[in-house]
Amino acid sequence: MKVFVAGATGVLGHRLVRRLADRGHRVVGSVRDEVGEVAVRAAGGEPRRANLFDVDSLARAAEGADIVIRAATKIPTKLRTSRRHWAENDRIRIEGTRSLTEATARVGAKAYIQEGIVWAVRNPDGSPFDEGAPPAPDPILASAVESERIARVAGSRYGFAAGTLRCGGFYAADGWHTRVMGEALLRRRPAMIRAASPTWSFIHADDVAGAFVAVAEAPRSGVWHVVDDRPVALAEFLGGLANRLGAPVPRQMPPWLARLALGRYTSELLRTSFVTSNARFRRDFGWRPQYPTFEQGLDDVVATWKAEGFPRRKV
Ligand SMILES: NC(=O)c1ccc[n+]([C@@H]2O[C@H](COP(=O)([O-])OP(=O)(O)OC[C@H]3O[C@@H](n4cnc5c(N)ncnc54)[C@H](OP(=O)(O)O)[C@@H]3O)[C@@H](O)[C@H]2O)c1
Repeated sequence: MKVFVAGATGVLGHRLVRRLADRGHRVVGSVRDEVGEVAVRAAGGEPRRANLFDVDSLARAAEGADIVIRAATKIPTKLRTSRRHWAENDRIRIEGTRSLTEATARVGAKAYIQEGIVWAVRNPDGSPFDEGAPPAPDPILASAVESERIARVAGSRYGFAAGTLRCGGFYAADGWHTRVMGEALLRRRPAMIRAASPTWSFIHADDVAGAFVAVAEAPRSGVWHVVDDRPVALAEFLGGLANRLGAPVPRQMPPWLARLALGRYTSELLRTSFVTSNARFRRDFGWRPQYPTFEQGLDDVVATWKAEGFPRRKV
């Protein structure tokens, strides 16, 4: 099977290229520069230059593909963000999804699969939710919901399977957000908000890649939540990370300071619970996470960091 991966160099993308190639599939990864070409080759894929916003270049790069995947995102690598920091991510999720689904139709692929996020939907009262929950009232999440609609409509118009894997809070040794958390804990910077105790559904990035492979090998249309087996209080997750790093108990900051230092979006996220389950995904694909809880996942993250000499203790 030939698979085209847009965003092949990312935290998710490079894992996906490697897993698909290891399973004997031919993988073409879209890249934007030479560094990307080297990374895709190293993961076992064939790099192709393509512009995510240009259907012709995508269709040329994806020629002959059976499956087209969007793993590209531009999640800001800063904590205090405003709307403008999310503009490129919105563009990728909306215009990028339009051009990729158009390219999927042009090359005659049988399926288009893309990333999404579980907290783009949720129950207003913060209770556990499933795939049928309503969209969250947050402007930076609207493009994730819109990308699902674009994919669904294109799939029915052109006759290919269109799937969205809404990922839980994903973490990985090479994930920017995970590294920032580790550094904050070691440097005794506050990482939680006082009097807020959100519970999150997490997922290790390796398991996200495994989930994409499961859909690529047995494609169907739908939306699924890809999370691990046990939602966990953010305090427990951070406490577990601190413990493995030999860092002190995570510090908290008052809400006013969080708003000032982290801005509206990050401080709201740190107060919001998103608790969901992988039941539908397990049922439909027979998938099981390799890291069923954050405990196994963080063991892996911290072991990888220690082997790399990261994070350094010195400020
Ligand atoms: N995606 C999610 O659902 C999700 C959920 C929770 C947490 N996170 C966190 O978010 C971070 C991002 O992970 P990720 O794998 O989604 O992203 P990532 O590692 O930032 O990779 C993004 C990919 O998209 C590509 N890309 C970015 N802008 C592009 C553009 N304009 N045109 C074409 N390609 C473009 C990048 O290519 P270049 O190499 O050329 O830049 C790269 O291949 C991680 O720290 C992860 O832990 C993500």
